[in-house]
Amino acid sequence: MTAAAPAALTTEQIGFLARAVSRAPSVHNSQPWQLGVRGTEVDLLERPGIELCRQDPFGRDRMLSCGTALTDLELAVRALGRDCHVEYRGRADVVATVTIGRPRPASPRDFALYHAIARRRSHRRAFFGSRVPEGVRTAVAASGETTGVHVVEPGRLDKLAELLGFATRVLREDRGYQRELELWTAHTHGWGAIGDGVPEDAMSPEALPVAGLVRRDTPVPDDVVLAERLAAENLLVVCTDGDAPADHLAAGAALQRIWLTATAKALVGSVLTQPLHLTGFRARLVSELALPGVPQAIFRFGYPAVPAAPSPRLPLGEVVPGGPTGGLR
Ligand SMILES: Cc1cc2nc3c(=O)[nH]c(=O)nc-3n(C[C@H](O)[C@H](O)[C@H](O)COP(=O)(O)O)c2cc1C
Repeated sequence: MTAAAPAALTTEQIGFLARAVSRAPSVHNSQPWQLGVRGTEVDLLERPGIELCRQDPFGRDRMLSCGTALTDLELAVRALGRDCHVEYRGRADVVATVTIGRPRPASPRDFALYHAIARRRSHRRAFFGSRVPEGVRTAVAASGETTGVHVVEPGRLDKLAELLGFATRVLREDRGYQRELELWTAHTHGWGAIGDGVPEDAMSPEALPVAGLVRRDTPVPDDVVLAERLAAENLLVVCTDGDAPADHLAAGAALQRIWLTATAKALVGSVLTQPLHLTGFRARLVSELALPGVPQAIFRFGYPAVPAAPSPRLPLGEVVPGGPTGGLR
């Protein structure tokens, strides 16, 4: 007797997966993903037409964002009580395929991370008082470690402050960059609101250069003050052995596991890739901080002093175009 094939996904289950994917973090909240569902196979596709020529000219952050969505997708499948297998495709459109297998109870850890998906958000403000205990910091970092991905706490905060201060001064004066950022922050409220972009409320008024997106008026304290502020935060750098799209996807997937692990431990955080795109910045970071690979993202985290509001999302019909979730929001 042959075992029955794994059951195809129902409409409700597809909606469940799409909702988890849609809550993933993405560069400028561009949500550059879609799902294509074929029975028990779910393709993660790049959503066409998203270009961030100044922030992300080579699509690295787009692929990192697809990686965060992939982690959410995998956790949602496991939360449904199904096994799954993820295969990197690396084609222009299909980023990865998740093949859904037989029933299998989710582990308590997978459940905890799945439940953190809806609570996670970018927290760009200052954190509450003290540093996070070492054991907790180590557990958060370890959650992102996987083959080819290394997660480290940066030493030499004086050097990091110098580099971030320099990047902030450059980005503040880059008119093309600032124009693009304005486009992604201006339409999130009122009449033009369409469910993507970064809302004004989510941009911290205290924004340190290390805490968010650099705008024309972002203050740049001197390097010594900046280093002191960095020392009061908890920082991780996500690095990869290689620097190809597959590495960017893996880094994004790891970043989201780190972020969800932190969220499950009642921590909050935000991510920084903006300065990494400046010519020569990554190489300087590797040499000054003696990093174990190519830096892909910096994650800062701590205990919240105040809550952060959620950012908008596109309707679920945009996540599964032409799919059964078309009527859901
Ligand atoms: C690959 C990637 C790069 C990002 N880069 C930055 C950044 O440089 N600065 C920043 O403040 N937020 C950054 N973010 C956070 C996004 O702006 C944020 O995830 C998005 O606006 C959605 O908001 P949420 O995280 O609250 O859901 C990045 C997110 C991702 C996934």
